[in-house]
Amino acid sequence: MAAFAEKAPFSLRTLPGLLLFSVQLSQALPVPGGSPGEKNAQLVQDYLEKFYQLPREGLRSERQNSPSVIVEKLKEMQRFFGLDETGKPSQETLEVMQQPRCGVPDSGDFMLTPGNPKWKETNLTYRIIKYTKQLSEADVETAIKKAFQVWSNASPLTFTKISQGEPDIKIAFVRGDHGDNSPFDGPNGILAHAFQPGQGIGGDVHFDADETWTQNSSNYNLFLVAAHEFGHSLGLAHSTDPGALMYPNYAFRDPSTYTLPQDDINGIQTIYGPSSNPIQPTGPTTPTACDPSLTFDAITTLRGEILFFKDKYFWRKHPQMRRVELNFISLFWPSLPDGIQAAYEDVDKDLVFLFKGCQYWALSGYDIEQGYPRSISDYGFPSSVRAIDAAVHYRTQTYFFVNDEVWRYDNERQSMEAGYPKSIPSMFPGIESRVDAVFQQNYVFYFFSGPRYYTFNLGAQRVTKIDRSNKWLNC
Ligand SMILES: *[C@@H]1O[C@H](CO)[C@@H](O)[C@H](O)[C@H]1NC(C)=O
Ligand SMILES: *[C@@H]1O[C@H](CO)[C@@H](O)[C@H](O)[C@H]1NC(C)=O
Ligand SMILES: [Zn+2]
Ligand SMILES: [Zn+2]
Repeated sequence: MAAFAEKAPFSLRTLPGLLLFSVQLSQALPVPGGSPGEKNAQLVQDYLEKFYQLPREGLRSERQNSPSVIVEKLKEMQRFFGLDETGKPSQETLEVMQQPRCGVPDSGDFMLTPGNPKWKETNLTYRIIKYTKQLSEADVETAIKKAFQVWSNASPLTFTKISQGEPDIKIAFVRGDHGDNSPFDGPNGILAHAFQPGQGIGGDVHFDADETWTQNSSNYNLFLVAAHEFGHSLGLAHSTDPGALMYPNYAFRDPSTYTLPQDDINGIQTIYGPSSNPIQPTGPTTPTACDPSLTFDAITTLRGEILFFKDKYFWRKHPQMRRVELNFISLFWPSLPDGIQAAYEDVDKDLVFLFKGCQYWALSGYDIEQGYPRSISDYGFPSSVRAIDAAVHYRTQTYFFVNDEVWRYDNERQSMEAGYPKSIPSMFPGIESRVDAVFQQNYVFYFFSGPRYYTFNLGAQRVTKIDRSNKWLNC
């Protein structure tokens, strides 16, 4: 038995574009049926019952759960998601609880099942018992097949589709209460669930038929959810690695270039051994904030937040929250590429500009402006400049760092200033090496080069401090 879902977590927002405003939203929205406090208490209760084995209220008719049990379960949940372990339902805890996710619990029976359930054979069969009307049968089959391939590429397992008889893994789109004591909850909230390897219902996968299932970046991409659920069908539990496929919350990634992350490869190979392929697959590893050699690709402010870009991820540092949040770039901006190289905020225009190679994009808040990407030749760069290392905006000027030189763009005259490029140390004494990333805050430029950052005071025109880059991520 894998899931104990009962009531829907109410979902104020599931669209990444709204994340920025979610704090204000959840405070401002009228809350039907109860005060915000009661509503939050119910959300916490439901979430912990479903995913953290909190005993259900009502089943024990005499007593309610004691507050200390809830605090312990809340801490366990906060530890899983890398939140501050306060045992209190902080705003960020409530936000995580409202994200769309898998219905399989993060702790409890599933992970503790004695003997780590696994399939005895490696040649497994599957059958699609019930389809969704939202996609053609052919499209469902393509997504399912591709999702199995994610796992067969990384292990000795094979998957064969059958259309009659008893398969190992039964797949069905079902809604509401569907006879396994784990009802679905309508749109959003719980998207799907799956059962660990075994006879009968073991290995089976159910998708919530009330979700909108897609083949693209609109919520929810069937291939991505299926690949996650099949991990459970094969015996994997949830991972705390936010980049892993087995992370419980949904995050969009481009299916056409999808490669199984290393964390999941390690998981499946621990159970079934290496791939039958002579060349073992390797997958992307999630950057860890406190890795002492961590470097950044680009950094910018955005309406008071600071965004730190790295490969296909960015960390988001909110001024009021201690925690920094790691996100996929594709979760917020499905059309942006990975590996953003430079970024700056133009506070007057209220736009953030992101650069990769010869292209750049403009963001208004978390939305990409129409008409982008555009070419950096707009700024007057010669064609010899193929990429920008770092950029920062100050007053009416934008500084671009390319190799060991700096260019300065005049935003009023809309042209590159004469006399540039200049050597970086001639403009910024003390900044001797290439710049990976730079941003401006309170008349200070923070230059990042390798694992160090340099505080450059614009008034004093000198470096006033050098420290580890990842101090910005609370390390
Ligand atoms: C899987 O392999 C085993 C052993 O080789 C065999 O007995 C079984 O019939 C195979 N099952 C399928 C579905 O091919
Ligand atoms: C995804 O596909 C659906 C159905 O084909 C379509 O309505 C929707 O606009 C698409 N979304 C994107 C972001 O392309
Ligand atoms: Zn799951
Ligand atoms: Zn089910």
